[in-house]
Parts: sequence; C-alpha cells; structure tokens
Amino acid sequence: MNTHPSHHTRTLWRHAKLSTLADTCGWGLVPDGAVVTEGNRILWAGPEAAMDLDLTHGVTAEHDLGGALVTPGLIDCHTHLVYGGHRAHEFEQRLNGASYEEIARAGGGIRSTVTATRAADGVALLRMACERAQCLMAEGVTTLEIKSGYGLSAEHEARCLRAARQLGANLPVTVRTTALCAHALPPEFADRPDDYISAVCEWLPALHAEGLVDAVDAFCENIGFTPAQTRRMFEAASALGLPLKLHAEQLSDQGGAALAAEFGALSCDHLEYLSASGVAAMAKSGTVAVLLPGAYYFLRETKLPPVQALRDAGVPIAIASDHNPGTSPALSLLLMLNMACTLFRLTPEEALRGVTVNAARALGLSASHGRLAPGMQADFAVWDLDHPNELAYWFGHNPCQRVVHAGVHRAPTLVASRTALSPEGARFA
Ligand code: NIG
Ligand code: FE
Repeated sequence: MNTHPSHHTRTLWRHAKLSTLADTCGWGLVPDGAVVTEGNRILWAGPEAAMDLDLTHGVTAEHDLGGALVTPGLIDCHTHLVYGGHRAHEFEQRLNGASYEEIARAGGGIRSTVTATRAADGVALLRMACERAQCLMAEGVTTLEIKSGYGLSAEHEARCLRAARQLGANLPVTVRTTALCAHALPPEFADRPDDYISAVCEWLPALHAEGLVDAVDAFCENIGFTPAQTRRMFEAASALGLPLKLHAEQLSDQGGAALAAEFGALSCDHLEYLSASGVAAMAKSGTVAVLLPGAYYFLRETKLPPVQALRDAGVPIAIASDHNPGTSPALSLLLMLNMACTLFRLTPEEALRGVTVNAARALGLSASHGRLAPGMQADFAVWDLDHPNELAYWFGHNPCQRVVHAGVHRAPTLVASRTALSPEGARFA
C-alpha cells in the first residue's frame, strides 16, 4: 500500500473537468480545472487559468489527468460489510413464496447471519469484508460506513467493530464505524428484548472506550425493537456523547424518524413508510434521509419513500448501498445512483449529492468530506466520462479511472490484485 504523503508534499492535478459540488446547488462544473493538494488536504480547486502562481511554487509532483472528469470521492454512508456466510437460500425461499418478515420470525434472516458471523474465524471475517470494500472502492468510494449488528454479544460486536477499524487501517479508504447492537434479538435473550437493550446499554461504554464507535444505530421495527426500547438505547448513547442513526420506517411506520429527530440524529435510513410528521421532524432537526434503493429493489418493496415531501421540507437526501447479506447484497454504489433515479425519481445531481455532500453529512463529516474545496480531505475520483450526469446513467459498467484518497493516488482496480493485509491485519483474530 502507498505510504501517506508528508504534510508538506504539494501536488498539482491538472487538465481536469471538475464537478466540485462546492455550492449548495448545481454540479460546480469547472471545464479546465486543476486541484492542488498538500499532504492529505485540498489546498485549492478551480479553473487552471485562475490558479495563483504562489500555489504552484512548492509543487513537487504533477499529474496530467488528460481532461477526465473529477468528482469528490464517493461516500457509502450505510453498509453492513462485516459478516459471515450469505443468504442466497433465503432469496430462494422468497422466490418460493416466503416473505422477508416470515423468514425473520422463523429464526432466519438477521439471526442466521449472526450464527455464521459468530462461527467465522476473525481473519476470515476481516478478509471477506476487505474484499467487499475493494469492490466498492473500485468505483471511486473513498469513505465507507460500516455497521456491526451480526455479533449481538459484547464480545462479537466488539470483534466486528475491530474488523471494521482494521479494514480502515489496511485499505486506502476512510472508515466510520457504527454500533448496531440493537439490530435483532440474539438467541441468549429470546423473548427478553428489554433485558437485551439493558445489556446493550451496558456494552456501549466499553465499546466506546476502545475507540470502536463513531455512531450508534438501531433497527426500530415490528421485527426489530420498539420505539420505547430504541429511546432507552438513544439515551444511553447520548449520555456518552455518541451521534445517532436509525433504521426507521423500513417495513412499517413506527414513528422512529420523529424519535431519532428528537435526539438530533445524524440520519434516518430506509424511510419507505415515513409519515408527513416524520418528514417535518427530520427537517426541524436537520437529520439526513438516507435512501437505500438496493434494499427497496431486493425486497420488491412497492411503497416509495416520500421523496417529494423530503425535498419540499428541505431534508438532505443521501443514497447508500446498505450492503448486507439479507436485503441488499449489492457491491456497486454506482448502481445505487442509477436505481435512486429510476426507482425513486431522484435527479442525477441529487443522486451524486447523495453519495458525496449529503452522505458526508449523514456521517457527521460535512466539514471535511464530500466536496472539492480548500481544506477538505483530498479524496477524489477520476472518471472516463464527459459529464457527471453519466454517473447515474450508465449501469453495469465502471468508468472509474483512478482514485485519490487522503492525497494518495491509487488505481481503482485493487480488487484484482487482492491487496495483501498488513501484519496487524494478519494478527487480528
Ligand atoms: O438495512 N433492516 C435491517 N437491517 C438490514 C437487513 C439486515 C439483514 O437482513 O441481514 C437492512 O436492510
Ligand atoms: Fe441497513
């Protein structure tokens, strides 16, 4: 893996067509653009002709991008990347007539992945997650959120969150971890959801003290946890100063979004069954709506998230892969852009903002990620495209030429070379 540039390395990236997304609307197109980076930060981005000579003074490396399109690095702000096994058999069961909820209630679903995750060897867990991350990274992803939620015990949740941290240490991608201990009821707590929530509230301080938690999430649903249980966990997380997220209104309207908004949550995710009052509450608290077209598609959901109401209320909309073995075994964020447009009727610009500016906001990173502007982390993707609207247009094709993460240049095809894990990675167990 590349070593990080020293803070003083100044690099000029020229002959680029920039889509900066730096303003509150529009693509921020700069036809003859350049970017100057210093260490892991963007020092300047704009028309090459307007570049101050002082800026080019200390430049020690120069890259000609040949007129290619450059966007901020993509951000996948909702994934469940760390798990063992897969659930192709449940996909088959659903095609033979069973519903997702029926499978979950019969002990399959999330709980079958919990069994496989607990049984998986730690190195294998990390390796599988790295391989999945590399698929996303090959399409220009430079920041990735990774949730736990398939361990469901103090020990196994910690193990999954450590794997997520290790992934970030081993691959050129920024990782944000989310503790989703309240994802499903583990067998040890069968019929005792309140006791399980009490246990989770007790695990959180230790997970946090180990530096494993950037945010806390829950699955508020009739097959997940009630609003009252979710509230109790939010109180415990808030007491630790941890930001909140919520799987809300995915299969039914539980009033989860309003609850999350009351706690100032960073995001509410899924939202197909979001009510008008939920929209209003999110608008008031500035909570991001993370829409997940992969899960909508794979579950053959027919109720659309209230996109126009979210727009009208000024709720920022993000898009993510929701990669998980049960409802969205998708490893392409670009496909999610296309599906956000075709299924949810987002515009291509909304879709791109959904995986850059607004995805950064859903992770609490809006001051440092998601735009090409001075002071931001030097994360960008270089595309063999003429216009950024093509990112949402093509599907089943990867136009990503190269990626810069934290100022370091990489080819997007890491997945083919199966980047070796560092010794720390190998030691992880
Ligand atoms: O985001 N909704 C809950 N969690 C996941 C599904 C998890 C699973 O089925 O394994 C989701 O869709
Ligand atoms: Fe999810």
